[in-house]
Amino acid sequence: MQTSVTTIERFIFDQEHRYPEATGELSNLLYDIALAAKIIAAAIRRAGLVNILGTAGARNVQGEEQQKLDIIANETMKNCLNHTGRVCVMASEEDENIVPVPPEYPVGKYAVLFDPLDGSSNIDVNAAVGTIFSIYRRVSMEGRGNVGDVLQPGCKQVASGYVMYGSSTMLVYTTGQGVHGFTLDPTIGEFLLSHPRIVTPRVGMYYSVNESNFGRWERPMQVAVRGLKGDVPDMMKPKNSRYVGSLVADFHRNLIAGGIFLYPADTRNPGGKLRLLYEASPMAFIAEQAEGSATDGTNRILDIVPRNLHQRTPLVIGSREDVGFVADTLRRTASARASGPVVQPAL
Ligand code: AHG
Ligand code: MN
Ligand code: MN
Repeated sequence: MQTSVTTIERFIFDQEHRYPEATGELSNLLYDIALAAKIIAAAIRRAGLVNILGTAGARNVQGEEQQKLDIIANETMKNCLNHTGRVCVMASEEDENIVPVPPEYPVGKYAVLFDPLDGSSNIDVNAAVGTIFSIYRRVSMEGRGNVGDVLQPGCKQVASGYVMYGSSTMLVYTTGQGVHGFTLDPTIGEFLLSHPRIVTPRVGMYYSVNESNFGRWERPMQVAVRGLKGDVPDMMKPKNSRYVGSLVADFHRNLIAGGIFLYPADTRNPGGKLRLLYEASPMAFIAEQAEGSATDGTNRILDIVPRNLHQRTPLVIGSREDVGFVADTLRRTASARASGPVVQPAL
C-alpha cells in the first residue's frame, strides 16, 4: 500500500509557489477545474445507469426533463468557476456569447474558456470523451470583463489542459512549465500525479485523421496524408492509423505514444472544423510544452489572433517532426501547383 502520493492540489501549489510573486489564485483556479472534472466524471460514469443519455429536452420515465451530458458538463464548469472571485468572464463552446460572472459574485483576474464535453457523439457508444480548458489573464481594465479578455492569441495562455474520461479519468495540464498528467483515484476521489513532465516523441507511431474526408481535401493535404501512410519511405516511415473521433482521446494517445492528429479544411468545412479557442489553442499549448508542435498548415496555432468566439481552424498537431513533414509537404506541393485530385491507391 502506497502511503505517500502527490495530489494535484499539492503539485499545483508547489509549482506556483516557486515564484515569490504568486498569489495562489491560479492554483486555486486549476483546483476548481479539477473539482468540475470529478463531478463531470461521476456524471459520465453513471450515464448508462441513470438514463441521462439522449437528447436534451426529452423526458425520462419519471416525466422529468433529461439533460444531455454536454449541458450537464457545461453547467458544472460554470458553477465551479463563477462564484470564486478568480474569474472575470468565461466562454464556452456551448454558449453563443461570452458567459459573464453573475452580478452577485466578485470578479477576478482570469478569463476561462472551455469545451465542456469534447467528442460528445461518443457518449452514446460508451467511448472516451473529454473536457478542454484554456486560461488567459484579464486584459480589460475596468468593468466585469468583456469579449476582448477571451479573444487573445493562444501564446498568451497562462494555462491550458484537458480531462479525459477514458478507462480511467486523467487530467493533463500546463502552466508553461512542462506538461503534467494526473489520474483520478476513484477510491479516494483525488487526482494523483501519474505522468510528471510529459515529453512527446519527436517522431510518432500514429496518424489520426478522419480519412472519409480524403476526397474533400485539397490536393496538398492528400499528398501529405499519403506521405504519412508510406508514399515517400525515404522521408517518412509509414505510420499506423488510429482515430477515435474525440480530439481529447486522439490527442492524448499521440501525446503519450507519439503521433500526429489532423483535422484539415475540406469542402464541407472550408475553415476547418475544430474551434480555435476551445480546442486548437489549448491543445497547441500542451503540444508545444511537451516538445511537439501545432499548425494550421501555414501558421503556428498559438500565433493566430482570434476574430470571433467560435472561429474554426484547420489543425495539424503532435510530434514535432511529423507536423514538420506535413507542413513542408503542404508548402512544396502547393508551390508545385500540381493539378487534379490524387486517386487513392487500389487495395
Ligand atoms: P465536440 O464533441 O466538442 O463537438 O467535438 C467533436 C470534434 C472533436 O472532438 C473530434 O476530433 C472531431 O470533432 C471529430 O469530427 P469527425 O466526426 O468529423 O471526424
Ligand atoms: Mn470538441
Ligand atoms: Mn464539445
